[in-house]
Amino acid sequence: MKSYKHLFSRAFAAAPGRLHFAAHSHHLWPDASYEGHMGAWDDSARLADRKWERIFGEVIPQAQRNIANELNLPDPGTIGFAPNTHELLVRTFSARAEGRPLDVLTSDGEFHSFRRQSGRWAEDGRVQLRIVPCEPFATFTERYLAELERATPDIAFLSHVMFKSGLRFDGAREVAALARPDGMWAVLDLYHSFMAMPCDFSAVAERMFLLGGGYKYAMAGEGAAYMHAPPGFAPRPQNTGWFADFGAIEAKQGEIAYAADGGRFLGATFDATGVYRFNAVRAMLEREGLNTGIISDRVMTLRAALCAATASGEAGALAEAELLHPNAAGPQARFISLRHPKATHWKAKLFQHDIITDARDDVLRIGLGLYHDGSDVAALCAGVKRALE
Ligand SMILES: Cc1ncc(COP(=O)(O)O)c(C=O)c1O
Repeated sequence: MKSYKHLFSRAFAAAPGRLHFAAHSHHLWPDASYEGHMGAWDDSARLADRKWERIFGEVIPQAQRNIANELNLPDPGTIGFAPNTHELLVRTFSARAEGRPLDVLTSDGEFHSFRRQSGRWAEDGRVQLRIVPCEPFATFTERYLAELERATPDIAFLSHVMFKSGLRFDGAREVAALARPDGMWAVLDLYHSFMAMPCDFSAVAERMFLLGGGYKYAMAGEGAAYMHAPPGFAPRPQNTGWFADFGAIEAKQGEIAYAADGGRFLGATFDATGVYRFNAVRAMLEREGLNTGIISDRVMTLRAALCAATASGEAGALAEAELLHPNAAGPQARFISLRHPKATHWKAKLFQHDIITDARDDVLRIGLGLYHDGSDVAALCAGVKRALE
């Protein structure tokens, strides 16, 4: 197996002894991201106020093209950016007011940005949540779609791949088929599938909001969240910053106008450094002849080796955990989920030995990326065995 560690030489040099297995959380930053990061600084120094012409004229359009290519979306202009997905989901919900609680169909596997915010809205009667349990995993897609058919919600919000278990939702087309600008809106959170597995959303692009960001498999770090907003849906979010009509900056103050494209979801003054990093990483992948399919195939080989090694006791106590198998077939998440009451204790113990994983409740997550090869799986198992003895 070819090694790609040289693409991450700065991250390795900065923490030489560390075994980093949380690529599904904070993915290590490739060297290319450093160049992108510094490019943002250089533009600020060189262009000062005029940097926004470069950001809106070149940097953002490049990032839009990168995302549209990755997801096979017909029009890069439908994509808007924000520092995080939370801002974008709040803005989307703000565009919807019915004078009664919004009926929202979701799952119990959503990431905290949505879980917490929607829970708080429910306290105030702004939304009414219908929550479909992820387990049993084998029937999740079917059960979610059945609930959707039984009563079409105002907003369907769920993850494509669930952050804790890696469960994949396979019903995007069916959900999108019910979406209308003046009816149900559908939002799919792609954070755990974007650049983690090949994704083609061309068939749903006209009807589905797609959320994602740079922190994980896009290897670009924070500050580069995005949303594809289907044309005609949510034209005037109530939560709006002045960048949502950036074109009118020199016009007379008056009507609150919005960009017709993905720009209508922009907020206000933001740090575009993450978007620069994202573009630099994408350019590096292209130079290296790498794409999401090639990287996933490689990671899946390592993932299979890791699953076999933990089951056979090579990683000591981890053999006592239940290895979750949420998807019977098809693309899998880039991490494995090991369920055990000691998950958070294990994570803390491993951390003391400079082995970085993460824990969510009773699940220990171990994530793999482009910077791992076969020798890392063996080193991880040996290190874990020693640390948890
Ligand atoms: C499914 C999912 N969505 C979103 C996020 C990030 O949310 P935000 O950009 O609001 O911080 C994560 C981060 O771990 C995630 O796992």
